[in-house]
Amino acid sequence: MPEIVSPDRSSASIDRAVDLLNAGELIGLPTETVYGLGADANNPIALAKVFAAKGRPADHPLIVHLGGDDLLGNYAREIPDAACLLAEAFWPGPLTLILKKAPGVPDLVTGGQDTVGVRIPGHPVALDLLRAFAQENPSGGGIAAPSANKFGRISPTSAAHVASELGDAVSLILDGGDCQVGIESTIVDLSRGSPVILRPGAITAKQLELVLGCPVVSRVAVVKSPEESTPRVSGSLASHYAPVTPLTVLSLEAIAQKLASENAAAIVRDAAVLPETLRQHAATIVLADQPASYAHDFYRVLRELDARGYDQIYVQVLPETPEWLAVRDRLSRAAHRDKTEVI
Ligand code: TXA
Ligand code: MG
Repeated sequence: MPEIVSPDRSSASIDRAVDLLNAGELIGLPTETVYGLGADANNPIALAKVFAAKGRPADHPLIVHLGGDDLLGNYAREIPDAACLLAEAFWPGPLTLILKKAPGVPDLVTGGQDTVGVRIPGHPVALDLLRAFAQENPSGGGIAAPSANKFGRISPTSAAHVASELGDAVSLILDGGDCQVGIESTIVDLSRGSPVILRPGAITAKQLELVLGCPVVSRVAVVKSPEESTPRVSGSLASHYAPVTPLTVLSLEAIAQKLASENAAAIVRDAAVLPETLRQHAATIVLADQPASYAHDFYRVLRELDARGYDQIYVQVLPETPEWLAVRDRLSRAAHRDKTEVI
């Protein structure tokens, strides 16, 4: 199994992680959203290992993580005003920008497209690592890091999850504690003129619109089947982020009935209307009735329930409001297990 180390701020484990990246190896790293599987973004051999470890198709692009916006020009050839505004407002933080790529960015990073995804993560360990790595690699310095899960599975939100997902594919995992956000970053495409959200996340359309002063449309309001979705954006596959146990979204009343007769677990929201029988049931997990807190716990709870061997997981339907969009998106993908690509 991989070694899990908790770096203090001046730690030798950051140096070890940098050495591994320089040697073309993979590492597990914490971010504020979910844990990443990191590789030198300029080393095609290391990048190939990422796809092998995840079982991910090679035309699915990776996000390049940077320690500062001074490195943007190493990966993006055009930095529109909108990118500067969003970077200023939200970086370091859970926002990925899709920009026109700079020459020389490996095809394995871009999926062969003319664009590249970049973000500065808001996690002190990730930033320490990224800055140390950039010092030794001034013409690159980016760490390509998809979520550190097998393709189609739930993203890890703790170092232990990474170890159980990927085992010896990573020799070192930097432990930065539980991820604060708990779901993947908001992705905004700025490469085609007007901004488009490709994946909802903790940063909402409304927040982006306030900064940009223009409408930000979302391409992700409806979960598509794999046949309909754009092949290059793996997060847009309906089956993404699925637990092993079948998951169904139901009303509270329906869940109460199911739990009475089935070997099933329930995820419900903490509200006054929650029946006491359901609240007290041994197989019920009660999450906060607030999107940020719910997102923080959601993947961890799915993982825990998966390990308990239930026949079914029932999840209470979520509010149809914009604040819940990102969590609703992950929930509806988790429920599309029948379409999961088994790789
Ligand atoms: O929060 C996050 O973004 C996490 C942490 C580790 O930073 N990373 C993450 O990476 O979720 P990944 O690879 O699991 O998801 C990245 C998504 C994929 O759906 C990919 O297709 C999309 O970003 N993406 C990356 N580059 C792109 C590009 N040039 N054009 C369109 N989509 C892109
Ligand atoms: Mg992922």
